Amino acid sequence: MEKRKLTVASFRKMKANNEKIVMVTAYDAPGADIAAAAGVEILLVGDSLAMTALGYENTLPLTLEESLHHAAAVRRGAPDAFVVGDMPFLSYQLDMNEAVRNAGRYIKEANSNAVKLEGGSEIVPLVEKLVKTGIPVMAHVGLMPQHIQTAGGYRIAGKTEDEAARLLAEVKAFENAGAFAVVLECIPAAVAENITRQVNIPTIGIGAGAGCDGQVQVCNDLLGLFDRFVPKHAKRYCNLREVMLKAYSDYVDDVKKQKFPTQDNSF
Ligand code: KIV
Repeated sequence: MEKRKLTVASFRKMKANNEKIVMVTAYDAPGADIAAAAGVEILLVGDSLAMTALGYENTLPLTLEESLHHAAAVRRGAPDAFVVGDMPFLSYQLDMNEAVRNAGRYIKEANSNAVKLEGGSEIVPLVEKLVKTGIPVMAHVGLMPQHIQTAGGYRIAGKTEDEAARLLAEVKAFENAGAFAVVLECIPAAVAENITRQVNIPTIGIGAGAGCDGQVQVCNDLLGLFDRFVPKHAKRYCNLREVMLKAYSDYVDDVKKQKFPTQDNSF
C-alpha cells in the first residue's frame, strides 16, 4: 500500500476518526529515517535535542541555529515525513516580527512542515499571526521545560481545579488562533481527557494519559539511550545503550587482540 503524505488536515481527520496519532522526537537523519519507516506519523525535532544529543543540562541553552541544523538533517533522513521544528527558548518570545522570521526559517531553510511553541495565553496572538502567515503551529502546554526556572523545576501541571480550567482555556484559545494540534505534557490523565473531548484539534500527550488523541515520546527514552532513569511517562522498548556498549566493547577487544580486520575486511 502506498504511504499517505500527511498534512495538518490529516491530523484533524485522524482525531475525528478516533485514529491515534504517533509522534516521536528525531534529531538526525538516520533516526528520522528509521522512525518514519516504522510508521511514526510526526517527527518532532524537540528542543530536548539540547539534552539528548548536544549534552546540555536542560533545553534553555539551545540556539536557533543548532535546532535548524538538526531539523534540516531530520528532513534529509525522512523526505516524506511530517516534521515539526521546536522553537528554542528566546527565539519567539521577544518580538513578534522576529518570531515570525525565526519560525519561517524552519519552513524555508529546514523544510519542516510546522513549528511547536511552548507557552500560554501570552503567545496566542503570535500563534494567530504565524498561522495567518502560513506557518502551521503546534502549541505546547502543561509542563513546559523552557519555564523550569520560573516553575522551580519539572512540575506536573493542572493538578488544581483552577490550573485545569486555565489549561482548558489556553487550549481553546490556541484552537481559535488556528493551531493545528497541541502537546499536553505531564498533566493528570482526567484533565487531559477532558481537554481532548472539548476541542476539535488533536491533543498529543506525554505523561498525560491514554485519553489524548496521540502520544509523543522522546526517542532516547523509548530506545534506552538514556540510562540514568526511565521517566514515569516513558516506556523503554529496547536497551540500545547496552547493545551499543556491547558492540563497541567487542570492537575494542577485536582490535586489541588483532581479530579485526581479517582478510575479509582487507583489500
Ligand atoms: O522537546 C521535546 O522533546 C518536547 C516533547 C517532550 C514534547 O517538547
